[in-house]
Amino acid sequence: MTTVRDEEPGVPGAGGDPDDPWFERADDGSIDATARVVDPASDDGERRIEAALRPKRLADFPGQTRVRDQLSLVLEAARRRGSPPDHVLLSGPPGLGKTTLAMIVAAELQQPIRITSGPAIQHAGDLASILSSLAEGEVLFLDEIHRMARPAEEMLYLAMEDFRVDVIVGKGPGAMAIPLELPPFTVVGATTRAGLLPAPLRDRFGFTGHLDFYATEDLVTILQRSAQLLDVEADLAGITEIATRSRGTPRIANRLLRRVRDWAQVHGRSVVDLDAARVALALFDVDDRGLDRLDRAVLEALCRRFNGGPVGLSTVAVAVGEESDTVETVAEPFLVREGFIVRTPRGRAATSMAWRHLGLTPPAHAPGLYDGTQGALPLDDGGRFGG
Ligand SMILES: Nc1ncnc2c1ncn2[C@@H]1O[C@H](COP(=O)(O)OP(=O)(O)OP(=O)(O)O)[C@@H](O)[C@H]1O
Ligand SMILES: [Mg+2]
Repeated sequence: MTTVRDEEPGVPGAGGDPDDPWFERADDGSIDATARVVDPASDDGERRIEAALRPKRLADFPGQTRVRDQLSLVLEAARRRGSPPDHVLLSGPPGLGKTTLAMIVAAELQQPIRITSGPAIQHAGDLASILSSLAEGEVLFLDEIHRMARPAEEMLYLAMEDFRVDVIVGKGPGAMAIPLELPPFTVVGATTRAGLLPAPLRDRFGFTGHLDFYATEDLVTILQRSAQLLDVEADLAGITEIATRSRGTPRIANRLLRRVRDWAQVHGRSVVDLDAARVALALFDVDDRGLDRLDRAVLEALCRRFNGGPVGLSTVAVAVGEESDTVETVAEPFLVREGFIVRTPRGRAATSMAWRHLGLTPPAHAPGLYDGTQGALPLDDGGRFGG
């Protein structure tokens, strides 16, 4: 994800200084100035590294127990029937394993997988040519399915339900729709925005799995496996420290592990331990709860300048020198989820946990509920904390 803030002067990563820790370095040494170390999205350089870290089978996929168990059942039943399973929709925030699970579905079914994405399908014809070349049982992975063009979407309804496409032959008044039968296949759709999927499309998926943020224990398991694959020696304390700062997101966990490994390498440490993790992550500005500079700037602005709020989003954005959009999409979701801020009808307010996180004493009016020792709790404030 490209964020506006990285293009602005005066922020980390903006000055073109390759030693700036905000730069992500790809293996070939190239620098991506737009990357943020706690960005849940990935860039092209990273995707290659990620592919190597993906678990290949359901049994090796830690976390998401519910989705995993349900999926396992759906796949096993299909295997026993000897026919392709229902279409599978995977939804959830970036970096939680949707693509990984799509690959696993194909692997478990022992079927080839065809990979494309919503934005790549601009015309119905693009989809028609993919569909008409599918083999029986093949898995069609449609990433970012919510971004598919409307006519293609309509073609997909028919294909998913009746295994048929109407191929238009000719032009103008003489054009004819010739129905083309397709062999049964399985669509695996992935989306970060399930709410944007039109209902008729959503309904054609027999199974929907919603991925949630990972518990620290699961991230520890994931990191231990990644460390092994990357040939990094890491102890449990070091791994746990990285896991707790990873925002419940395997992609971020794996990325932080690589940064800590870099630090350890450069400093002649053979093991990623607690000390290495702490020092390296401090260098990358990721604090003990996984907040980075922007997140903390938002909290600082709320608490120090606006006495905890509530204050409008655009005011917060101006106070931290950012676009509203950046604050809303980059910092806020995590801060709200972790209970640092609440959305109220009159704007954003800092909870007492936010005050304490900054080492400040919360005023009596600060929304409470979280005392900072309870760890991450999902928070749907529903406007309860009206300031
Ligand atoms: N349960 C898991 N176990 C091990 N690694 C995981 C798990 N989930 C995700 N990962 C790792 O995290 C990285 C990102 O996962 P993946 O690409 O599947 O996320 P995604 O949900 O498809 O994200 P996006 O929405 O950005 O496409 C990959 O390197 C993958 O190996
Ligand atoms: Mg993906």
